[in-house]
Amino acid sequence: MNIQAFRHRRDTTLARMGAGIAIIPTAPEQTRNRDAHFPYRADSYALYLSGFTEPEAVVVLIAGDGKQTQPQSILFCRDKDEEREIWDGFRWGPAAAAEAFGFDAAYSISELDAKLIELMTNQPNLYYAIGHDAAWDTRITHALNGVRAQARAGKRAPENIRDIRSILDAQRLFKDAFEIDLMRRAGEISGEAHKRAMRVTRPGKYEYEIEAELLHEFRRQGCQAPAYTSIVAGGKNACVLHYVENNQKLNDGDLLLIDAGGELDGYASDITRTFPINGRFSSAQRDVYQLVLNAQDAAIAATRPGNTFHDPHDAAVKVLAQGMLDLKLLQGSLDSVLEQESYKRFYMHRTGHWLGLDVHDAGDYKDGEDWKKLAPGMMLTIEPGCYIRPADDVPVAFHNIGIRIEDDALVTPTGCDIITEATPKTIADIEALMAEARQ
Ligand code: GLY
Ligand code: MN
Ligand code: MN
Repeated sequence: MNIQAFRHRRDTTLARMGAGIAIIPTAPEQTRNRDAHFPYRADSYALYLSGFTEPEAVVVLIAGDGKQTQPQSILFCRDKDEEREIWDGFRWGPAAAAEAFGFDAAYSISELDAKLIELMTNQPNLYYAIGHDAAWDTRITHALNGVRAQARAGKRAPENIRDIRSILDAQRLFKDAFEIDLMRRAGEISGEAHKRAMRVTRPGKYEYEIEAELLHEFRRQGCQAPAYTSIVAGGKNACVLHYVENNQKLNDGDLLLIDAGGELDGYASDITRTFPINGRFSSAQRDVYQLVLNAQDAAIAATRPGNTFHDPHDAAVKVLAQGMLDLKLLQGSLDSVLEQESYKRFYMHRTGHWLGLDVHDAGDYKDGEDWKKLAPGMMLTIEPGCYIRPADDVPVAFHNIGIRIEDDALVTPTGCDIITEATPKTIADIEALMAEARQ
């Protein structure tokens, strides 16, 4: 834990707020059934500002007035509780948490409702993620009414209620050095998981056996969880974009598409590789694979400051559209394929998204009507693909080929750094790794 990094993030948010109070609750625990819970994952905004991973916690930021009062960051969290700690494990408690996580003050979560009334009083602005959680909306409304009830004593409730996500989303778009280090490591671990999958894949195995290898490598190297449900899609299943059943047998001659990444201390990795189940690409598979790889190269070259978020997509689509014509998947001219968007029959998703605490991370994609300009510190995926469902007008050799190649890119001052580059992706490198594992 780097306390300074978290302090710096809170200071930045405080400065952007101007005047007022921000309230950022973490996520509630979710029941799976009876008294069993889903594995707990803190809310990304609360985690971003605190590094604190326990449930039942709230970050409160109070901007200074520029004169008498200084900005303050406060944590509400669970009390120490010997009985509960025997059953459920360690709790920081407010005093130790304030110290360990660098907050100016910390209080018991049991004091929250009363304290919120006190802390909101006479603040001009309330920053809060309105509508994110109905139970919290009600709780905050109660606190506001608690302040309003004291109007005759001269106390004023915040007049303006603003969405804190506008400030935090813009902030989260640019990764700090601490985040970049974590994401590089998450990318390395995830790459090793993909290599492990390539090594062990054989015809006759089941998709879930390969999924188990990915999970093994994520956890073995310290990732707490997969960053999203792994897609392990053999053969035609690769043409289902969000395939997660992962329960089919792997067939000799088919491809295997794996979209999987680990989450490390809250940060996601998002990698896709597609490789031949028997270790050797067929001629048709080779043609489509090289096309997608060329599209990814074009998109990577377009990922640089000065270009917009849309430019890598545009670059990938041009390469893919021309390739679809060359392979006789489509007829007509490049202009007509682009204009009519007929390439969408085989490439129907976008080429990337922001990446960070969330796999589809926070951050706007446009400024007004214009696509956001890329700038150093942004992290995004670059993930072109081609998915060919069987049809009478499509050459049979291409039927059921589904390919995606996805890497994670950090925008640098001169271009981008592919932080998942160590994961093999040329035809030669994939075939070599798989051949070596079969000796
Ligand atoms: N794994 C989710 C995505 O690639 O967007
Ligand atoms: Mn992705
Ligand atoms: Mn992905």
